[in-house]
Amino acid sequence: MNKNIVILGTQWGDEGKGKIVDCLSSDSSYVVRYQGGHNAGHTLVVDGKKIILHLIPSGLLHDNIIGIISNGVVVSPSELIKEIKMLETHNISVNKRLFISNSSPLILQYHIEMDIAREKKLGISALGTTGRGIGPAYEDKIARRALRIGDLKDEKTLSMRLEKIVSYYNHQLVSFYKHKPVDYKIILRDLLPTIDIIYDMIKDTTSILQKAIKDKKKIVFEGAQGSFLDIDHGTYPYVTSSNSTIGGVITGTGVGPKNLDYILGVTKAYSTRVGYGPFPTELFDNIDKHFSNKGHEFGSTTGRKRRTGWLDTVSLCRSVYINSLSGLCLTKLDVLDGLNEIKVCIAYKNIHTAEIISYPDINEWENIIPIYETYPGWTRKTLGIKKIKDLPYEARNYINRIEEITQIPIDIISTGPDRSDIILVRDIFY
Ligand code: GDP
Ligand code: IMO
Ligand code: MG
Repeated sequence: MNKNIVILGTQWGDEGKGKIVDCLSSDSSYVVRYQGGHNAGHTLVVDGKKIILHLIPSGLLHDNIIGIISNGVVVSPSELIKEIKMLETHNISVNKRLFISNSSPLILQYHIEMDIAREKKLGISALGTTGRGIGPAYEDKIARRALRIGDLKDEKTLSMRLEKIVSYYNHQLVSFYKHKPVDYKIILRDLLPTIDIIYDMIKDTTSILQKAIKDKKKIVFEGAQGSFLDIDHGTYPYVTSSNSTIGGVITGTGVGPKNLDYILGVTKAYSTRVGYGPFPTELFDNIDKHFSNKGHEFGSTTGRKRRTGWLDTVSLCRSVYINSLSGLCLTKLDVLDGLNEIKVCIAYKNIHTAEIISYPDINEWENIIPIYETYPGWTRKTLGIKKIKDLPYEARNYINRIEEITQIPIDIISTGPDRSDIILVRDIFY
């Protein structure tokens, strides 16, 4: 029986993970964010109402679900509280059903200033980060100097450690980056009132999950970012600073691999990327305009225009492999409506040797061009279709071809932004 499922991105983020988590979590007990931070932007549309979540697990829109922000997530207390308050304006209360790991590293103002200062200094080599302090916060964790959520419980020690770490950051910010310094007293002043609000949410989330698994509760693990933004497996250095591939679930929660019953990879029916870095199938023509306008491809966190391109099954197959995917969810199929023809990248070609490559070296993107197969498009609308048999023949053909190439089933198809625009090809919680 599939009880515990992981939902993660197979591309460069923004695949529509939030919507799918929301759809699949209605009959689960726990939804867990396990990596990343508020660099994520997960959009949910319920009855035409749009909510964007950055830190709070997407399943919390359903009553009675318990949300967990586990140890792998870097947490900005002020952003968390902002989001709790935003949900309250939609009459959604997280009271007594949101828990945060005491081991989650904190994101504080100096991380954000450092992120911004670094990007500025990099100039044309900048990564295009979200400017949310994600990289510096994970650096602190690895360097074993991070302040963590659990440290909020002891005000005196917190104040002492904060003063030290701020002097460490100010030295770099001012001397090296010629950036403005931060004031630890102001950081502390702003932080103290947030502690009262989140104090009771601070827990050992690993033991909560251990008990949930023992009690046979259903758990959905919600990935942030996408596989090619992974710190180890992505297009380094144009990546984020966490493991957005499957390993992040295990280290980021303390749940072992045997308890992950089904791993769902979410992929758009085409590709997008926000921020800089390699993107083999990127387009700069009218098709880009079509994806951009019809797919509203503007970042949910920063509002930046997303780069767009055709579906790249070479990288998708790599994603299937590195994540041990059980099945795929194909999102935004409706965005392809009205195109005369649809292309799928099925291999790369080395531009110097003309060699055809199916298993590319991820570090050698600059030497390759994509090779495409072309399929007829469809004129009928797929927007809002709920049964696979109602899809146009050409759309089903496209889906079958992706299954054939990736060798795994497409178990879910998303046909619009709303929670109800979904085709459940197979019940994955069987
Ligand atoms: P996430 O970060 O993976 O959760 O994805 P985002 O929320 O950043 O971006 C996905 C965007 O596509 C959001 O605006 C969603 O509302 C929207 N979306 C999700 N699924 C579909 C779909 O099947 N069709 C269309 N047209 N939009 C979708
Ligand atoms: P969701 O969960 C798309 C990108 C940034 C940048 C790079 C590093 O919504 O899919 P960072 O701020 O993490 O240090 O930036 O990663 N990035 C995302 N792109 N979706 C996301 O999250 C992203 N989170 C980070 O644009 O290129
Ligand atoms: Mg997003």
